[in-house]
Amino acid sequence: MTIDETNINSVTSGDIVLTGDRPSGCLHLGHYVGSLRNRVLLQDKCKCYLLVADVQALSANFDHPEEVRKNVIEVCKDYLAVGIDPNKTTIFIQSMIPELTELTIYAMNLISVARLERNPTVKAELQTKSFANNITSGFLNHPVSQMADITMFKATAIPVGEDQLPLLEVSNEIVRRFNSIYKSDVLKECRGILGDVTRLVGIDGKAKASKSLGNAIMLCEEPADLKAKVFSMYTDPNHINVSDPGRVEGNVVFTYLDAFWSDKAELEDLKNQYKKGGLGDVALKSMLHNCLSHILEPIRSKRASVHEKEVLEVLMDGTNEARKVATETLRQVKDAMGLIYQ
Ligand code: TRP
Repeated sequence: MTIDETNINSVTSGDIVLTGDRPSGCLHLGHYVGSLRNRVLLQDKCKCYLLVADVQALSANFDHPEEVRKNVIEVCKDYLAVGIDPNKTTIFIQSMIPELTELTIYAMNLISVARLERNPTVKAELQTKSFANNITSGFLNHPVSQMADITMFKATAIPVGEDQLPLLEVSNEIVRRFNSIYKSDVLKECRGILGDVTRLVGIDGKAKASKSLGNAIMLCEEPADLKAKVFSMYTDPNHINVSDPGRVEGNVVFTYLDAFWSDKAELEDLKNQYKKGGLGDVALKSMLHNCLSHILEPIRSKRASVHEKEVLEVLMDGTNEARKVATETLRQVKDAMGLIYQ
């Protein structure tokens, strides 16, 4: 069965939203269009949880946990900088909710190793890891731990990038098995909420934007680096003179304008002009540069004003609140399984 995927319009006040990021570095524009932008809107619609998945990040960084710790703070700064409001969204740290680990262990019995190995998200991510030929059980278990994250908070709507959808499918499979075996309705199935842009290419046009590939524009990009990145974007190698007709498909500048330029009619005109000839790459890149500066400048200045102490306070408050919910759900889970001994 495939996962339901809808957009933000399907979310109602009765939904519970949960999403998260692995703290493996600062966030970039791909995260912004894929999910962050939606999260800011969703926090006014219904209950929202946001988890910083440090346990999950450790599976690829177990030998340098200090990096993970540092990035927990960086990712949370990004959240606050884009407008996620801790008074509306409960932001918390995965490793500080041990109930998640416990639920993961129970759920591990409900899915086969073969099913986990077949998961496209796990397979794709594995290719970029040094242990690709020697997969750890921690890494293989991501979909199960993610299922625990989602179901612990009874989340029904999960804003994620398209690449994460197969993980939600696994989560729902485990939920159905749990509820049928333990004759329960404690755990809830979820659906994926995709952003308007499900996958942002890197500035090289080759792959998905990613920090590790160095082809992403970071939310905290310095102005000079932003400019350098926009002006180095892949366009149409055959568009040499301004008067030459140019290609719009596969042209990264247009891909980014599609994602960020709000006046769609104007953008259509630009595309037609480019195709005919007469619109130069430098002019086009300047437009994109202005547009992105406009988006990133307030994010950068907000980010600079947030101090680590404030970030930690936000995380501790959110974690305390999340832990209360987790304690109650785990009690219900153990009750359904007949594991309450008092
Ligand atoms: N896997 C997500 C990522 O790669 C992080 C994550 C962990 C998550 N648990 C989750 C996302 C639960 C959505 C729901 O960044």
